[in-house]
Amino acid sequence: MLKLSKLATAVALVVAGSAAVAGEVEVLHYWTSGGEAKSVAELKKIMQGKGHTWKDFAVAGGGGDNAATVLKSRVVSGNPPAAAQIKGPAIQEWASEGVLANLDATAKAEKWDDLLPKVVADVMKYKGNYVAAPVNVHRVNWMWANSAVLKKAGVTATPKTWDEFFAAAEKVKKAGLIPVAHGGQNWQDFTTFESVALGVGGTKFYNEALIKLDQKALTSPTMIKVLETFRKVKGYTDAAAPGRDWNLATAMVIQEKAAFQFMGDWAKGEFSAAGKVPGKDYICAAAPGTGNAYTFNVDSFAMFKLKDSGAQKAQADLAASIMGTEFQEVFNLNKGSIPVRLNMSMDKFDDCAKTSAKDFVSTAKSGGLVPSVAHGMAIKPAAEGAIKDAVSQFWNDDKISVADGVKNIAKAAATK
Ligand code: BGC
Repeated sequence: MLKLSKLATAVALVVAGSAAVAGEVEVLHYWTSGGEAKSVAELKKIMQGKGHTWKDFAVAGGGGDNAATVLKSRVVSGNPPAAAQIKGPAIQEWASEGVLANLDATAKAEKWDDLLPKVVADVMKYKGNYVAAPVNVHRVNWMWANSAVLKKAGVTATPKTWDEFFAAAEKVKKAGLIPVAHGGQNWQDFTTFESVALGVGGTKFYNEALIKLDQKALTSPTMIKVLETFRKVKGYTDAAAPGRDWNLATAMVIQEKAAFQFMGDWAKGEFSAAGKVPGKDYICAAAPGTGNAYTFNVDSFAMFKLKDSGAQKAQADLAASIMGTEFQEVFNLNKGSIPVRLNMSMDKFDDCAKTSAKDFVSTAKSGGLVPSVAHGMAIKPAAEGAIKDAVSQFWNDDKISVADGVKNIAKAAATK
């Protein structure tokens, strides 16, 4: 009896102890499509399994522009969420405002320096301290295709060059189907644009024009060719594209209404959620001319300074969970991306993910690994916004000549 009551007291103490360190974790993200929602639900499950309360702060809008606006107002009013989906140079901008938490204790305990590629770790740090936790690696320069649509149109091989692509698109058009599924936000236009720039101009041109924003490259004959090709792609989209969300464009490919989509591999999350099998129902291939290159996009959560100790503990657990093997596997299986944590087994992943993992390593060696501008990996937000607008203006208005498009984009790139 005595023993039992002692046990009860001990249990009560343990429960009280864990309750004292459990906390609420409010997470701002923009993962609201079918595949994205399934992915983020896994993180929620892991956090709840650790006894924490998950407060979902989802702001719809692919690419995260809406989420970024909402985040600003929350931080300015002194009420930031525990974590927010922020990436690339924007992490540095937030850190320089002094609002991000230092994650070094977790990073050290969990050995992040050994588990991350250095290029990724550097982006997660501000002045040498970790302020964000990376989730995955998305490849952006993909082309998705519906196998049945290609068959119907008589396209027998996946196009590898832009000439082959336009020949295939013409056949799809003749078959009465939509060659290219496209949506209508500037980040979607730029996702296509940077794949065209990479395919037409190659890695060296991409780096000079879109990363270094070199005026000579931006006004070169290559840039003219890029815009001509880009406009030609537009000619194969449907009239209802403006305003359409990216996942609805993916759905057009899934539902055999359209043949191709240029989109990062979060699109694969939609194919998977719809029960489609790569290699059978659909094809993943590098965008024409980009087989030896890889535009990367690393999702990450920056953590904000919090006062409540329970919330701080929950935040540290969130950071540790994000880099843990359980989350890295299950999240990325649903999301379409690959784990960012090194040395993870790829056994459970499909062939598209295996290709991505292999190409990530080989392009890192060959120099073909480049950051995605469309997805906030490369340049400061002000210049990024300006060139995205200029590219979208050109895409949306066929009356703007190629020469003027080149001029406008080069001018926008000079925005400080
Ligand atoms: C993000 C992805 C997201 C996609 C569509 C990208 O910028 O990195 O995680 O799925 O936008 O919202």
